[in-house]
Amino acid sequence: INNIIILAIESSCDETSAAVIADGKVLNNIVATQSVHEKYGGVVPELASRAHQENLIPVVQEAILTSGISKDQLSAVAFTRGPGLMGSLLVGVSFAKAFAFARNIPLIEVNHMNAHILAHFIEDPKPNFPFICLTVSGGHTQLVLVRDHLDMEVVGGTQDDAVGEAFDKTAKLLGLPYPGGPLIDKYAMEGNPHAFKFPITRMPELHYSFSGIKTAVLYFLRDQLKDNPNFIKENLADLCASIQYSLVEMLLIKLKVAVKQFGVNEIAIAGGVSANSGLRETLTQLAAQKGWNLYIPKFEYCTDNAAMIAMAAHYKYLKGDFSSMDVTPLAKMKI
Ligand code: KG4
Ligand code: ZN
Repeated sequence: INNIIILAIESSCDETSAAVIADGKVLNNIVATQSVHEKYGGVVPELASRAHQENLIPVVQEAILTSGISKDQLSAVAFTRGPGLMGSLLVGVSFAKAFAFARNIPLIEVNHMNAHILAHFIEDPKPNFPFICLTVSGGHTQLVLVRDHLDMEVVGGTQDDAVGEAFDKTAKLLGLPYPGGPLIDKYAMEGNPHAFKFPITRMPELHYSFSGIKTAVLYFLRDQLKDNPNFIKENLADLCASIQYSLVEMLLIKLKVAVKQFGVNEIAIAGGVSANSGLRETLTQLAAQKGWNLYIPKFEYCTDNAAMIAMAAHYKYLKGDFSSMDVTPLAKMKI
């Protein structure tokens, strides 16, 4: 018999997603990806909100239908409160509130960054506490010390751009459509990571900086294109591999420092960029070399999804941590 059944909504950026979780087991994870942003080279907030408005009910309907659970069996409804795009968040929050009000069930707010990390608890193997999680997405780059499901501390992070942003912005300079991260990954597979040398910015302590590489690639391409207008086309794989090499190196240098500093042997990665095959491979080798226990989520749970929101909501439900009906979204929200 199922006791705790939660419907979870994710709408922080450009994916509209819904999932149902029953007693800690995720039953499904429906995601509608918004393609309207491709031609703009980045997420257009106004268009994202409208697409959420369009997609949310059909996505929820599908989640409820495929879970085999009826609406009146739901114990609670969860949503992403932040961080994210205000207009996008508002759609999810308003829906969740109305749903909770209509069904007279508790409302659970979830922190999106917390949820990215809790994606590790959807399936086995699960990391043991305490562990260090490198959360890498389009909006964030964080080193997080995770003491318990709901007890996390950000111990390092970026001072400027997120690493996903660096992937996407350099991809744009190469003429690739948004989001460029997965495309850099794809072309990098055929390229030489040492063909070109892009900067590896070294920041103090556990700080990251990813804005320098964008400028370096911009100037490098400008110079090369003067001599050869086909430079990008002729060197695309090597360019992608070299950019990816620098970004992955920067990520891992600080991860090593954090592991040493906190004496933790359990290491996880989370967020959209953890889908990157260069990062996965290099980190897997590094972990084997260092004797770390490494946890990498399934692709499906790396990028934005409601299954991770559902997982976080489950732990909050167990603690009776519910939100009041006057809760509002937060574009910026600390873990
Ligand atoms: O976590 P996520 O889906 O959304 C945010 O919360 O930001 O992350 C999206 C980011 C984008 O910057 C996208 O380019 C990047 O993750 N990304 C990748 C790959 N797949 C997604 N970056 C590099 N390689 C990939 N395979
Ligand atoms: Zn995310």
